[in-house]
Amino acid sequence: MKQVRVGMVGLGTIHAIHAEAFKPDTDKDTAGNETATANSPRYDIREDPLGKIAAVFDIDPAKSSKRALEFNCTAHSSYESMINDPDIDAVDITLPHALHYEFVRNALDSGKHVLVEKPMAPLASQCRELIEKAQQNGLIFTVAENTRFVHAYQEVKRLLDDEIIGTPRLIRTFISGSEVTRLRDTSLWKGRIDGTVGGAIMDAGPHSFYLLKWLFGNVGELRASASRLVNESEVEDHALVAGALESGTLFSCEFTFTAEMPWNERLEVHGSKGTIVVDQLSDPPIVIYKGELDFYGTAHKAVPHDPVWWKGSSIVDGVNDFLDAVSRNRPTTVDPRDGCYAIEIVEAAYRSCSNNGQVIVLS
Ligand SMILES: NC(=O)c1ccc[n+]([C@@H]2O[C@H](COP(=O)([O-])OP(=O)(O)OC[C@H]3O[C@@H](n4cnc5c(N)ncnc54)[C@H](O)[C@@H]3O)[C@@H](O)[C@H]2O)c1
Repeated sequence: MKQVRVGMVGLGTIHAIHAEAFKPDTDKDTAGNETATANSPRYDIREDPLGKIAAVFDIDPAKSSKRALEFNCTAHSSYESMINDPDIDAVDITLPHALHYEFVRNALDSGKHVLVEKPMAPLASQCRELIEKAQQNGLIFTVAENTRFVHAYQEVKRLLDDEIIGTPRLIRTFISGSEVTRLRDTSLWKGRIDGTVGGAIMDAGPHSFYLLKWLFGNVGELRASASRLVNESEVEDHALVAGALESGTLFSCEFTFTAEMPWNERLEVHGSKGTIVVDQLSDPPIVIYKGELDFYGTAHKAVPHDPVWWKGSSIVDGVNDFLDAVSRNRPTTVDPRDGCYAIEIVEAAYRSCSNNGQVIVLS
């Protein structure tokens, strides 16, 4: 299969993880056996990457030239020149939120397939416009929503399909991490409204709202509150969004950027016959409880403990899924309409916050 030629824009932290999808597995000896060195334990690296990094662009020219040397590819001096490069088929956008809409739109107008990091775009109306444009132009476009590729969540989907815990009554998600240093540094976009458009709800919300939609269905109503501990920042670093799904199942999603611990995600699904708890830092990450006397629960070992790479691996899997979709001209596993739906919930949550936690009815 022909490799997809990709132009990468925004060569920062998460770009480095996306780039892993393009590196061939070098950890094989000449007989093709796995060796225990280098990068293979971290990601499911393919021997034959589905894509090739053909061009790079960053507003910082030093980053562009460094990465161009590493990937042996073209360093463009402007985004316009990259999206008009006939030697690229697709663009992978890992930029601050405020730039997503414009950069995606321009790439789709230039006839390139697009993968964009979350949030797809800051407004749902922009997301809808981009999805329609991609359809009209016959291009593959989706959001790099790695949640879909997190092994523990894929396993939860199987457990729910098998009705292991009965009917879900209450779902809780908690995304926590330490962003205090970046939020305090006003030279960075993370704590500035002109870079992020919003704080924890815009940044972490799309993951949980996508997860709700994928595993449990649409949100019926919600209310939200947000607060800020980091004074130097302009955006909220803590938020709580809670309500009910259309099915009647209750939910609450909490986000914080001030937890001094490794980046983590928790999910609790409380059902009529038991509870599933996912905690990416726990060993194993999934435990199932069956009733009030099941004090120790059952460690569900189908997904191994991987506190370091659980997220990176899912991001690489998402990039590979996009590349495979482009090569085979098939829909991506992450339906862009679900990425857009997550932004509708983000908007509703901000609407509630700015109206003192008013209940917002969505359906
Ligand atoms: N899926 C996930 O779990 C996950 C995790 C982290 C970040 N992200 C997303 O990835 C995106 C980038 O985040 P990051 O942490 O890598 O940010 P970052 O600040 O580390 O990198 C952003 C890069 O964009 C470049 N840039 C800024 N303005 C530009 C412009 N006008 N033209 C070209 N380049 C420009 C910067 O120089 C920098 O290299 C965000 O949308 C973020 O939400 C997703």
